[in-house]
Parts: sequence; C-alpha cells; structure tokens
Amino acid sequence: MARQSLRRDRAAEAPRRASCEPSSLTRTVFFVGFMGAGKTSVARRLARICRLASVDMDTYIERCEGKKISEIFAERGESGFRALEARVLRELAAGDPLLVSCGGGVVVTSDNRAVLASDAGFTVYLKVSADEAKDRISDLSTRPLFTDIESARLRNAEREPLYESVADATIETAGKGVAAIANEVRRVLEREGVLCR
Ligand code: S3P
Repeated sequence: MARQSLRRDRAAEAPRRASCEPSSLTRTVFFVGFMGAGKTSVARRLARICRLASVDMDTYIERCEGKKISEIFAERGESGFRALEARVLRELAAGDPLLVSCGGGVVVTSDNRAVLASDAGFTVYLKVSADEAKDRISDLSTRPLFTDIESARLRNAEREPLYESVADATIETAGKGVAAIANEVRRVLEREGVLCR
C-alpha cells in the first residue's frame, strides 16, 4: 500500500478549523469496538475539536483499492479483506501519531491484537450492544458481516473479550451521543498523557 495514499487520505480527512487550541498526541490512538459503536464519528469529532489528524481504516482501504468494503468482501472474501486490514494497521502503527478508527473486526487476528496492545499506541474500546449498534447503522448493506441481529449479538459477544484484551481504556457508549463520547475520550487521553495541550 503506497505511502502516498496515506498522505492523501490524511489530507482528505484533515481536521476542520475549530475554536480550541491545537493539541498533540504522544502516541497513535486506535478506536476499536463493534460495528456501529461510533468509532469513525468519535475519532472525526475529536480530530475536529482538538485539531488532530484522523484516518478511518475502512475509508483508507476503499481509497487504496478503489472499491467499497462490500465489493472487497464479495470479490476476495473475509480473508482477503483481513489481509488488507492487517497491512494498513501495521502501516498506521508505524507512522506519526494520529487518531485511527479501526474496522470492528480488527481484533479477530492475534497479530493485529499484538499491534493494538503494544505500548507504542493507545487503544480506546467504544463499547456498544449489537441492538443499539443496529439502530445507529443507517445502511446495513455497507456492513457485510452485520446480516441479522441474532448473529450480530453472537459476534459481538465473541469479540467483547478480544476488544477488552487490547483496550487501554473502555468507554460505555449506551445512550450517549458522539459529542459526549468524544469529550469523555478527550478527558481519558489527557489524564493518561496521550493528548497534550
Ligand atoms: C467489520 C466491520 C466494518 C468493516 C468490515 C468488517 C467487522 O467496519 O471493517 O465490514 O468485521 O466487524 P466498522 O466497524 O467501521 O463498521
């Protein structure tokens, strides 16, 4: 995956001007959690209010491949998608500190979990139930692995210990909006010395 694409992606997702002072990160922050947990929205919100760079892994993969995630799954299957995802995770983990919203399944491989658990980054688990996630996802056709609520509940239950195993911080998102979650994350990152003003 070309380095150039990452630069383009960062520029495309560059934070918009906000009224607060620019902040800086001491480590890359990875957002993990089930589909619909709000990883992308929260990372973007935080990027905007703190004037930081953010990258969404799925968007990055789509741009690099010139295809939607659903097309990648249809053409290469889950294993083909996971190989791309693993490569992007490593690339982002090796780069400058930024906010990274990961795909919900990033924790299924032990190699990825090792990257997320490493002290080089800081991993925030946004916790959500499958039922609440379903209500938050406007178009389920964009999530090839969210087919029905029963299997989503099972999948989330299987993954919860994996998310927890890599998390430096866990944030319960039930009943909260994006702004409230982003503020909570900001406080945690400041307290942990990951976000400095
Ligand atoms: C997946 C989650 C999706 C995307 C792909 C697989 C998963 O990302 O990476 O459809 O396995 O949970 P979001 O969590 O951003 O929906």
